[in-house]
Amino acid sequence: MSTNSIKASSTFFDRFNNQDIVKFSLTNQNNVTVSAISLGATLYEFSIPTNTGRTNLVLNYPNSGDYLANPFYVSMGIGRTGGRIKDGQLPLNGQTYQLQTNEGTTTLHGGPNGFNTQVWDGEIVEEDGEPTIQFHHTQLGSEDGFPGDLDVTIIYRLTNDNTLKLTFEATALNQDTVFNPTYHTYFNLGDNDTILKHNLQINAEQHLEFDDKKLPTGNFLAVENTPFDFRQTTSLGNAIQDMQSTSEKGFDDIFKINDDAISNTIATLQDPETNRSVSINSDRNGLVVFTANSFTKEDMNFSRTNGIGIPYEGVALEAQNLPDATRFNNFGNIIIKAGETKVHEIDYHVEF
Ligand code: GLA
Repeated sequence: MSTNSIKASSTFFDRFNNQDIVKFSLTNQNNVTVSAISLGATLYEFSIPTNTGRTNLVLNYPNSGDYLANPFYVSMGIGRTGGRIKDGQLPLNGQTYQLQTNEGTTTLHGGPNGFNTQVWDGEIVEEDGEPTIQFHHTQLGSEDGFPGDLDVTIIYRLTNDNTLKLTFEATALNQDTVFNPTYHTYFNLGDNDTILKHNLQINAEQHLEFDDKKLPTGNFLAVENTPFDFRQTTSLGNAIQDMQSTSEKGFDDIFKINDDAISNTIATLQDPETNRSVSINSDRNGLVVFTANSFTKEDMNFSRTNGIGIPYEGVALEAQNLPDATRFNNFGNIIIKAGETKVHEIDYHVEF
């Protein structure tokens, strides 16, 4: 007789590039379900019971093929490095490595063969008496152009206090390399088609200055007296309204998490209408906020909202180290030495 309080299952999802894509699920005692598909180790579902059925709090697609058919990385696992690397040139140990590029001259989110494009080996693994979802993949330098091979495991753990714990474990197999993974999770916590009525709080005094390719200049800008000030709980819709005069018409920005918030709650998103919230815990110094400003119907076919594709349909909150960190000495350390193992964790705690 099983004494697990978390229930686990796996099922065929679909075929993609002649491979079977598998969906793995965990359900806790409160009937909260998390599921993930092996393409990109993608977070497919974070659903809660409601009076009328269930609501998925994250955006997803019905088919694997949809995920890579647009530039939006919908709720996918991202690596080796989240964010943009200037000119695809990675400075490391006094050398410069030319990476593959996928946004003009820029390497974005690990490049064209990053974690999100890989089909991961998934399995349900019991740990401390409870099932977890574990995805494994060896990311080869010959495949993605980064120095060295990286052995990576991504673990999904669901607790009975409604926390999804995402752990990344990586070992540099043969060369020094970089490791700055994230999840590109788009939340929409409410029952509306957009997140304009959501509130957001971020423990950040500063955000990054960008150039015209959204590349960090190395300068930090104070959030005070700007639409970037989320230090107190703030209406996301009002803040987006204040950004309408910018070319982005919303947020696609990187916040520098305050030192005292790291390994604690870095940000909280809430929907006052339904009283649902998610708080994010991360052990790193950055948070990307992308309010899906450029979503269009042509690109999108979201199962959550019956196939609409509109700006502000979700907000991606990407907890990571500040990007391109080997270029700027005050951005933090993303280097992983040959033979070394590094572990990072992102937690989403949901209340409803
Ligand atoms: C991140 C980037 C955005 C965009 C999205 C994916 O959020 O900062 O510019 O590329 O990923 O569409």
